Amino acid sequence: MIEYRPLRIALLGAGSVGSQVAKILLENKKELALRVGAELELVGVLVRDKQSVRDYQIPTELLTTSPEALILGADIVIEVLGGIEPARTYILQALNSGSDVITANKALLANNGEELFEAAEQVGAQLYFEAAVAGAIPIIRPLRESLAGDKVRRIMGIVNGSTNYILDRMDSTGVSLKQAMEEATKLGYLEADPTLDIEGYDAAQKAAILASLAFHTEVPIDRVYREGISKITSEQIAAAKRDGYVIKLLAICEKISATETEPEGISVRVYPAMIPLEHPLASVRGAFNAVFVEAEAAGSLMFYGSGAGGLQTASAIMGDLVSAAKRHVAGGPGLADSAHADLPVLPISRVTTRYQITLAVSDQPGVLAQIASIFAEHGVSIETVEQSAKMIEAETTAWLEIGTHLATDLSLAAVVAALQSSSAVEEVTSVIRVEGE
Ligand code: NDP
Ligand code: HSE
Repeated sequence: MIEYRPLRIALLGAGSVGSQVAKILLENKKELALRVGAELELVGVLVRDKQSVRDYQIPTELLTTSPEALILGADIVIEVLGGIEPARTYILQALNSGSDVITANKALLANNGEELFEAAEQVGAQLYFEAAVAGAIPIIRPLRESLAGDKVRRIMGIVNGSTNYILDRMDSTGVSLKQAMEEATKLGYLEADPTLDIEGYDAAQKAAILASLAFHTEVPIDRVYREGISKITSEQIAAAKRDGYVIKLLAICEKISATETEPEGISVRVYPAMIPLEHPLASVRGAFNAVFVEAEAAGSLMFYGSGAGGLQTASAIMGDLVSAAKRHVAGGPGLADSAHADLPVLPISRVTTRYQITLAVSDQPGVLAQIASIFAEHGVSIETVEQSAKMIEAETTAWLEIGTHLATDLSLAAVVAALQSSSAVEEVTSVIRVEGE
């Protein structure tokens, strides 16, 4: 039954995502009204250029280039402009006027989230952001609500579709990073500034959002450790495959216990790593995303689906819109996050992981012993060693592929530095972390 007054929805942006949100809102109007108990009336759509051709042709009378009147006259504002400004200013205007806001803007949340959530709290408004991480995949709501009574231990996710596509193409066809990047560019997978994807910035923004929800802690984006995929070679991909692994760009958020001298905290990091082929994330192919969550009571959970795409992302926005609209109709407190745990975000040196290191060494007596002693000096235990040799001119070069047991990143980094300056080592050809075992 529809007894409530129509709710006024302002849409800021009508690009890939915004135009699909407008389409769903206009085409599913009746069905949405029945679900919510009030009509959702799209009162205006903010754009830069009213003449642009769009994926969905929005009625011209709805398009506007004047933000203020649109924002101030709305019950719920949907921000799908992207970027920091003017999105930040518009969201603050909306929240300060008491409107609920829905955003897909991971960059803004990762950089200015604290300010936005504070503004929302001051006036009792809600800020929803399901679409900001992993597109269509419901992961924010499970962390905010479904797992709110549990304790999350670890999140390991593939949250950037374009880099997953690139690594997958390198793995399945043997193409180089450059060729795979060209394919991804042609398919429109990469951001306008591809370094956001390739160097892991996009994944780091998403990791900061996931970690803050999972561990009830503010996670400033500059505390997220980040390495991208720009140095990953076809040789590393092939070697991983030979050994039963696949290389993925992982976003990892985990709780780290206190030691005798160091406090408890969380680690939030993004880097390419080898994962065993049997791990659920290994089967995430193409531009798909997946998030693997380990919680104390729930055990392991896997969330999988489309991490991007206008229509897919619009689905997540519409879910938030229905929730926000129902709150208007039925009242209630809405979702509330808190940073009550206030855990320190620890440096990468505190992380415990495993490395796979490949070295070129001269094939001489005693070299292996020298290498082994470097690992021993830094307290890093070797798990596997494989050697292959090849005659190059008069000299024989041996390649050693060394897999370590778990050790702190601090010790592993010290081992790599010592290997690089050792006279026994011609070259350290590959260093990559191993996760998911
Ligand atoms: P687009 O670049 O396709 O669209 C941006 C829209 O915002 C355009 O309609 C543009 O107007 C409008 N706009 C931008 N700046 C202004 C401004 N200053 N004033 C008025 N209008 C403005 O972006 P997307 O739809 O791809 O992305 C939107 C948001 O969703 C971003 O935060 C992005 O990170 C996020 N997101 C996107 C995903 C995707 O698959 N595309 C997936 C997950 C999240 P005009 O049309 O006139 O140029
Ligand atoms: N550039 C992002 C990706 C888009 O490749 O996943 C979705 O956030």
